[in-house]
Amino acid sequence: MTKVLKLNSPPHRLVTIKVNNTYNFDQVIDRRKTDSIKWNDEFLKEYFKGENLLPLWVADMDFRAPQPVIDALVARAKHGIFGYGTAGWPEYFESVISWFSRRYNWNIKKDWFVHAPGIVPACYYIIQRFSHPGDKIIIQNPVYYPFASGIISNGRIVASNDLKLENGRYTMDFEDLEKKVKDPLTKMIILCSPHNPVGRVWIKEELERLGEICFSNGVLIVSDEIHCDLTYPSIKHTIFASISEELAQNTITCTAGSKTFNLAGLHHSNVIISNSKLREEFKTQLRINGLMTPNIFGTHALQAAYSKCEDWLDALMVYLQKNLEFLKKFLRKNFPQVKIIEPEGTYLVWMDFRELNLSGKDLQSKLIEAKVALDPGHIFGSGGEGFMRINIACPQSTLEESLNRIVRAFI
Ligand SMILES: Cc1ncc(COP(=O)(O)O)c(C=O)c1O
Repeated sequence: MTKVLKLNSPPHRLVTIKVNNTYNFDQVIDRRKTDSIKWNDEFLKEYFKGENLLPLWVADMDFRAPQPVIDALVARAKHGIFGYGTAGWPEYFESVISWFSRRYNWNIKKDWFVHAPGIVPACYYIIQRFSHPGDKIIIQNPVYYPFASGIISNGRIVASNDLKLENGRYTMDFEDLEKKVKDPLTKMIILCSPHNPVGRVWIKEELERLGEICFSNGVLIVSDEIHCDLTYPSIKHTIFASISEELAQNTITCTAGSKTFNLAGLHHSNVIISNSKLREEFKTQLRINGLMTPNIFGTHALQAAYSKCEDWLDALMVYLQKNLEFLKKFLRKNFPQVKIIEPEGTYLVWMDFRELNLSGKDLQSKLIEAKVALDPGHIFGSGGEGFMRINIACPQSTLEESLNRIVRAFI
């Protein structure tokens, strides 16, 4: 059944969207014994040093993937032969090409695709291929922490172009970026777009300015757009490489359906590179590490998601928006010292606990005492201390339970 909803969404424009309300995101599904890193008690005990934790950390959702995805996986599983797969077939490529063309006006070609078993591994192979030990790589802290881990573990140096937080909104510091790209050791920037954890969906003008600064100084741009589909009503995501041919030629774009449709465990992503020289270099790096064929389930799932599940995504975003409103209202009423940074995209919300004046360690201990597992802000690098990242992609009852636990522990 289709219903029309009016939402008061950031930046506070009334938008009308049609939602298919046959999806039940309220359903609580037990994930404890399903080999889920998010819910596995032993893992949680070791990682968070706490027991009986309610997990709202790590970026996967407590919702079932859309039914057409499940059907495609079951159909492929029923065939019963699981030999090596191909990198794709005409309908697969068409589903991806059409998704980006109709949603983002980004027109990509089949030849530009390179499959990788995830965006984190893709970024690490890119770091290895396009920089040398001792080189500097720019990231924008506080940011998804595996970027820094990959830079450091590969012997490169993190150069953080820290985001600026003014009046509850994060922006880029372009003056600092100009200085950092001029350093001859700087070879690359990893752009998080939309930004995890601060939830910004960068506007075209910001991306253009960043692109010009990097392009004119010969700095390669790796644009991680894994969260691009998860934007709140009225917010528009711009694919960085779609801005101009010049920027596209200097960019490696990382895409996946894993966040959008909850498919992360299938380890499938598409790295899109229009510059043939960069593409061949990247393919060589995968080849010399023995990465040749994709997981067959990943390709089938993605084709089904991109070709049959857009209405599920619309309904998901409405549900996430309701969870976000619930979170804001709950905090205003029960815990006003804690503020949130209003996200424009992603199901990750950056919560500001700084008013409590607790160290990152004490804040985390309090949350473990509350029996809630969130991602502590300090792991996201400079500027993260005093914040916590909460994952609101769960039934509202789970979110409510976690917030009640938090309030009980603090008040
Ligand atoms: C910005 C960003 N990039 C990459 C990933 C993970 O990508 P993958 O699972 O494809 O390695 C995440 C997961 O949270 C993320 O937030």
